[in-house]
Amino acid sequence: MGLFRPGKTRYVDADILVVGGGFGGCGAAYEARYWGRDLRIVLAEKANIERSGAVAQGLSAINCYMGMHWGENRPEDFVRYARGDLLGLVREDLVYDIARHVDATVHKFEEWGLPIIQDPKTGRYQREGRWQVLIHGESYKPIIAEAARKSVDAVHNRIMVTHLLTDRARPDRIAGAVGFSVRDGSFYVFRAKAVIVGAGGASHIYRPRAIGEGTGRTWYAPWSSASAYGLLIPTGAKMIQMENRIVLARFKDGYGPVGAWFLLLKSQATNAYGENYEAAWLDELRARVGKYADAQPMPTCLRNHAMLEEMKAGRGPIYMHTQEVLDSKEKEEIGWEDFLDMTVGQAVVWASQNIDPKETPSELITSEPYVMGSHATCSGAWASGPEDCAPADYQWGYNRMTTVAGLFGAGDTIGGSAHKFSSGSFTEGRIAGKAAVKYVKDLKGEAPQLDEAQVKRLEAAVFRPLETYRLGRNAIVAGTVAPDYLTPLQGLQRLEKLMDEYVGGYSVFYVTSEPLLKRGLELIGMLKEDMERVGAEDLHQLQRAWELQHRVLTAEAVARHTLYRQETRWPGYYYRADHPRLDDAAWHVFTVSEYDARTGDWRMGKLPVHHIVE
Ligand code: ADX
Repeated sequence: MGLFRPGKTRYVDADILVVGGGFGGCGAAYEARYWGRDLRIVLAEKANIERSGAVAQGLSAINCYMGMHWGENRPEDFVRYARGDLLGLVREDLVYDIARHVDATVHKFEEWGLPIIQDPKTGRYQREGRWQVLIHGESYKPIIAEAARKSVDAVHNRIMVTHLLTDRARPDRIAGAVGFSVRDGSFYVFRAKAVIVGAGGASHIYRPRAIGEGTGRTWYAPWSSASAYGLLIPTGAKMIQMENRIVLARFKDGYGPVGAWFLLLKSQATNAYGENYEAAWLDELRARVGKYADAQPMPTCLRNHAMLEEMKAGRGPIYMHTQEVLDSKEKEEIGWEDFLDMTVGQAVVWASQNIDPKETPSELITSEPYVMGSHATCSGAWASGPEDCAPADYQWGYNRMTTVAGLFGAGDTIGGSAHKFSSGSFTEGRIAGKAAVKYVKDLKGEAPQLDEAQVKRLEAAVFRPLETYRLGRNAIVAGTVAPDYLTPLQGLQRLEKLMDEYVGGYSVFYVTSEPLLKRGLELIGMLKEDMERVGAEDLHQLQRAWELQHRVLTAEAVARHTLYRQETRWPGYYYRADHPRLDDAAWHVFTVSEYDARTGDWRMGKLPVHHIVE
């Protein structure tokens, strides 16, 4: 039986290929054009950039804005905030670099048509909190996508990028990427001198709280399929902080945002008995994490911890007392718009559960964990920092270049730099775009060469699930139970269940340990064996199959990093029951992994955390 191939092979040449058209990718495309007028810049996106990435559904706030020209904050203040929130461990050079440029990005957004709410008294942007500004953001993504679309030579929508390509002579240098069209099945071979990955973090690595038909209702976008990591890991790029998964305190069942309620409307969360519980856990938290418990504001993970302990003690449900703050029409509108701009489903929960937020409090709960590099968390690639302020061992040439030459990242892709959110991810894309232009120009005539054998091998692998299905379906007895293959959904559910039970998901209150992790890794190993037998009945399922591949590899990285870090650095995100306390003497470091795709081995290590802001 020959290779089942539904479409043609299409070659696309580019100086710079941007993979993923979310905020990181859009920023990269925009800035690369500014510096590289004469370069060929191409963007590939698995959906359509008009409404893709984590901001596809809109946002109600921009969570990273300094307000420097109004004297509101300095970049150094932001570094202290991000560092405190992550209990000491961030790449301060990268956080600083974003903070000093992010205001200019937000001003561009406004120029492009994004309505940013202004405080009528001061004329400044209306603050939600110290770092956050309010927007009318239902159409945030289309506004930003337009700028990217106008910047590039071509946008290839509906292309699922499955693998990155490396140079024939130098496997530590990037040469492009391959993928397929989800619409016509064409095999795409992108030949590029530099690649910027902004492909997005991960939902659905852990079993979600939602079940049945509601399973797609997760906090982070369900289409965020870990490609930011799944593409990079096989190249051998160094990854850091993959254990630093994030758990979010959210409105229950709809995952609606809490920021506007806590920070702007000053709503209080209490346990079922009306007690403000957070402060009551401070001493217990000091015993666990020492001085980090006193960071202001209380770190995100520690707020989760307090909520979890209350729930474990049977003092749930936890309630957000919306009814105590909605005392004017204006505030009521802010409350509803907060959900309608970005999480319509939460307004539907209110409607379906007969909740009038003016009358009735709403339940809060902690979500399943997600893997990302842009929120109050910082998993991702180890990247070169800014030339002017990164310590010598944090830089090797080009800003935001990974340890693979010519491979850059932005947004969820880059590790160590938390609290980027939408504006910071776009800003990081701009930084990477500018540096990639310089990299390409410095290459002069020395373009990378495709490894034809690698391309052929990947071509066979990419479409194999279609063939596996076509052969295997003959043996189906009933339904989806097939002796010869696994559907992408079956594989996904198996992954979610084992990550939940062994690697610290919600069903075990985020607790794991060395024996649990080792058993979890055995089960991941068996899942990886079976992944050779994923069957896809059509191109849509083929996309699901590759999304699952990216998720499984990312999940393995999470488990390995979690095993390696022998402390509980972020209670409320996860707990190592066998190492229940924070241990600064041994673990004030970044964990780093390097994967060898030929052998499947992972090399783990530590990298130093340098403090450059007092
Ligand atoms: S969003 O990412 O989905 O918009 P959310 O609206 O909850 O999240 O949070 C918005 C911002 O407020 C983030 O910067 C978050 O870190 C911050 N935030 C949320 N709750 C609190 C709180 N209780 N104290 C301090 N900061 C908070």
